[in-house]
Amino acid sequence: MAESSIEKIVSLCKRRGFIFQSSEIYGGFGAVYDYGPLGIELKNNISQLWWRAMTQVHENIVGLDSGILMHPKIWEASGHVDEFNDPLIDCKKCKGRFRADQHENTPCPEKPSKMVGQCEGELTAPRDFNLMFKTQIGPVESDGDVAYLRPETAQGIYVNYLLVQGAMRQKLPFGIAQIGKAFRNEIVARNFIFRTREFEQMEMQYFVKPGTDDGELNEWKEKRYNFYIQELGINERNLRFHQHGTNELAHYAKEAWDIEYEFPFGWAEVEGIHNRTDFDLQRHQEFSGKNMQYSDQVSNEKYFPYIIETSAGLNRMLLSVLSDAYWEDTDNNRIVMKLHPKLAPVKAVVCPLVKKDGLPELARKIVDDLKIHYKVLYDQQGSIGKRYYRQDEAGTPFCITIDHQSNEDNTVTIRHRNDQLQERVSIENLVTELQNKMDDYS
Ligand code: GAP
Repeated sequence: MAESSIEKIVSLCKRRGFIFQSSEIYGGFGAVYDYGPLGIELKNNISQLWWRAMTQVHENIVGLDSGILMHPKIWEASGHVDEFNDPLIDCKKCKGRFRADQHENTPCPEKPSKMVGQCEGELTAPRDFNLMFKTQIGPVESDGDVAYLRPETAQGIYVNYLLVQGAMRQKLPFGIAQIGKAFRNEIVARNFIFRTREFEQMEMQYFVKPGTDDGELNEWKEKRYNFYIQELGINERNLRFHQHGTNELAHYAKEAWDIEYEFPFGWAEVEGIHNRTDFDLQRHQEFSGKNMQYSDQVSNEKYFPYIIETSAGLNRMLLSVLSDAYWEDTDNNRIVMKLHPKLAPVKAVVCPLVKKDGLPELARKIVDDLKIHYKVLYDQQGSIGKRYYRQDEAGTPFCITIDHQSNEDNTVTIRHRNDQLQERVSIENLVTELQNKMDDYS
């Protein structure tokens, strides 16, 4: 397999309609991306797998969709107003702004052959830069009307946990899952969709009895790691754990592990699994004046549960899926996205070999029959080879070709994306044949 590089993936994503730079006609908008027709299908498929793995497979995990804008005191209580900072430095020559802890690995914008600080530019002393986006509620600008775009979805879960618990009559341990946008004013945003200013998180907060937290953390570590292999089909060789040392731990964490993926630019975090203790609930009680303790009906005690958090970036997970799937089939001079069929944006494309002799009509009828079961497309543009090539890059696992024989014996060919083998099947059995092939894919 030829080396994949992030530039090749970026280019394919644009060419095939997975991901576009935001506001491209205006020269782009830093570190924000738009998901095209294939990108949104892939993103939905990934997030649905996660949602299912949380809220369907676990009876004691329920969903929530809280607001992006919340009471500003939430961010004081959580520590984000005081602590959610990155160290910022400026270059006095080029006026560029960089993270003090990463500038040695950041190319100088004016002389990319040198790293920031190695050119003639003088750097300022580091100062704290808060990553939260501030906005204002209502028409009058004043300090009392400040609001923040949430930098994590977690806090929306904490402030609602007793309402959810009461409404759903949950007992510890139980979890609340949420998928939603988060915003961070990242100083340096690099590597395509890996670090962006607007992104989506898939977070699950698991409320447990203090004392059981270490065991629960270990269970969630294992479950989350297996998700990447069993559900997303990621190659295990490209996954590893990284434990946070004491100097890396967030202000709320007792223990933290990252699931890392080996991207084309190196190993990097996709998901964090954290033991957040009772830090957040204690702080929300302190700042809101409301009771945030759980009433244990079994032991007749009241206490703050500990929280085990699994926090994944949907966009980063998608980038790991794309990186893992990217394959240059040099023998056949083609690029293939070897996506698992359950993730593939389009499951099959239906192609009449020629635009006459009733083949387009038959192909349309087959699309109509298939589309109620899974996402399929009709394509009659260009040579059949070019059509296959387009679908290989889009990750479509099956191409169904309608030829003259189809009119005679009601059969079509299924062409398999990975090995390009073709087989003839009857139109009558097509739905089940494709479903079986998707289920048996390995
Ligand atoms: N609630 C805990 C929390 O937010 P985090 O490690 O800061 O923890 C969790 O973020 C996940 O969110 C990361 O593992 C990453 O996948 C994703 N993430 C964080 N910042 C991001 C950014 N700027 N762009 C894309 N994804 C990001």
